[in-house]
Amino acid sequence: MSRSPVIKVSQKNLKTPPNLLDYEKTYRGFSWKEVEDELEWFPGKRINAAYNAIDRNAKTFRKNKVALYWEGKEGEEVKYTFLELSLLSNRFANVLKNLGIKKGERVFFFLPRIPEFYIGFLGTLKSGAVAGTLFSAFGPKALEDRLGNSAARILVTNKKLLSRVEKIRAGLPNLEHIILVDGEKREDFLEEKIRYKKQKTLLFYNELAKASEEFRVAKMRPSDPAFMLYTSGTTGKPKGVIHTHYAILQEHLTAKWVLDIHEEDVYWCTADPGWVTGIAYGILGTWSNGASSVVFEGRFSPEKWYSILEEYKVTVWYTAPTAIRMLAAAGVDLVKKYDLSSLRHLASVGEPLNPEAVWWGMKAFGLPFHDNWWQTETGGMLIANYPCMDIKPGSMGKPIPGVKAGIVDDEGDELPPGQEGNLAIRPDWPSMMKTIWRRPKKYQSYFIKNWYITGDRAYKDSDGYFWFIGRADDVIKTAGERVGPFEVESALVEHPAVAEAAVIGKPDPIRGEIVKAFLALKPGFKKSERLKKEIAQFVKKHLAGHAYPREIEFVDKLPKTRSGKIVRRILKAQEIGLPVGDTSTLAEY
Ligand code: PRX
Repeated sequence: MSRSPVIKVSQKNLKTPPNLLDYEKTYRGFSWKEVEDELEWFPGKRINAAYNAIDRNAKTFRKNKVALYWEGKEGEEVKYTFLELSLLSNRFANVLKNLGIKKGERVFFFLPRIPEFYIGFLGTLKSGAVAGTLFSAFGPKALEDRLGNSAARILVTNKKLLSRVEKIRAGLPNLEHIILVDGEKREDFLEEKIRYKKQKTLLFYNELAKASEEFRVAKMRPSDPAFMLYTSGTTGKPKGVIHTHYAILQEHLTAKWVLDIHEEDVYWCTADPGWVTGIAYGILGTWSNGASSVVFEGRFSPEKWYSILEEYKVTVWYTAPTAIRMLAAAGVDLVKKYDLSSLRHLASVGEPLNPEAVWWGMKAFGLPFHDNWWQTETGGMLIANYPCMDIKPGSMGKPIPGVKAGIVDDEGDELPPGQEGNLAIRPDWPSMMKTIWRRPKKYQSYFIKNWYITGDRAYKDSDGYFWFIGRADDVIKTAGERVGPFEVESALVEHPAVAEAAVIGKPDPIRGEIVKAFLALKPGFKKSERLKKEIAQFVKKHLAGHAYPREIEFVDKLPKTRSGKIVRRILKAQEIGLPVGDTSTLAEY
């Protein structure tokens, strides 16, 4: 296949005319106010994101349309229509009301990708409370920081994950109730076999059985908080990013224009609702477009993923570069064993999508992956490739209509095309975070000269396409998941053998980066392979299954400034064979 620098929009991927027909023209004439009617508003300019995602569709011809095709890790399958999700989430909203949860209070979910996660999330937003989500790989330390900082009153989890919560529960005075989802069988509830029993442990379906199917959805101000997610920076503890009900406007429009959701589509977002993609494009923006969505609870395997695409006749697929590279590594012959002719549009997010991966999409599926760029903080896509626009493989695309992106220097002055600098966005856009929970100064630190500074380095070419270069800080992206080095270092020094730790992202051909730790041991501990394994397991268990160091190197000393701060950049430069740069501020190393 010829590899020109541009993939022209081909007749093939325009089999279905795209929702966005002319990017440049739309960009020029766009205003967010004019697209507000895409959503349903309550009198007095009130809104509810979950109402827009589900209930609005449950009142139309989409009432009996499948909203969720769920497949469990054991192969069990359950379908939910828009009406069913609407009624079930009403019940959950009533459960919260009966427990006395008020507007703005935090309800957290620590679950695998199961239907109750989606039902509970929607119900929380409908009640006016704030839903927080936690990735199911988190360990006790990560949970303690997040549940403690958010002062969550309710946690919805399952028996398996509960043991991790129990280890830290004593330190969470605000956590009043834990609701367990797997006390009873989901089928028994759906077949109306569960009757409410008064008991000490709150069980999801027992509580739902008591609750009414009718609920008056909370009518929120657009700027009221709807959900929160913890994300990592270079330093300090994870920060709680707060998103509003108004965010759904951007999530809706980008699902329509970038993911190109049409009425007849079957859509699969492989992201977990513990992360922002799984919320914005696994719940809110895509359901508000009436998409029939597939959710697969199980783990990644090339065979299983292809069989999901085949079985559900997926048409639009939103995934991540690491998954694409893992599929590519399994070979094109495997793809050919499945009938994937239903696919018509592919998109990717979360980490750099190398041109190879775009070309592999062409080879394997006859379709390119459309890269798009955004962050937990931005709440929705900001830069994207659109079905109607030529793709330059390796580029993240162009800003969403209504979004002004620029490349600025460290003073916040805009740089011309071709020059590398900080990727920056002009505030505001509808899905912009409202604040950082309890850290208003941190929130302010994102802005310079009326630009939101993203923390990414990039450049813009003369055609207006944006190209990612790297992070401006030490944040690690491993298999698309964002990991803060400080959190991992803090977990490492809890191990009895570790005196000091520094953590970097080491480039990796499949995972983008892996977490690598440099450790100085305490006197009396011997360097050994066994100790490395033990330390890695320790972090996996206490912090998170996805954030442990896959590689450990023992060192005698770590590079530090004269004031004693560890300088990760030196370790990173040495690791990848680059010059270490200015070392004049370092203590002897
Ligand atoms: O560094 C960028 C990278 O992921 C970061 C945001 O991560 P997170 O908050 O976890 O959100 C991920 C899903 C929206 C960004 O600052 N990133 C995201 N998309 C891309 C990317 N890097 C390169 N290309 C992308 N398309």
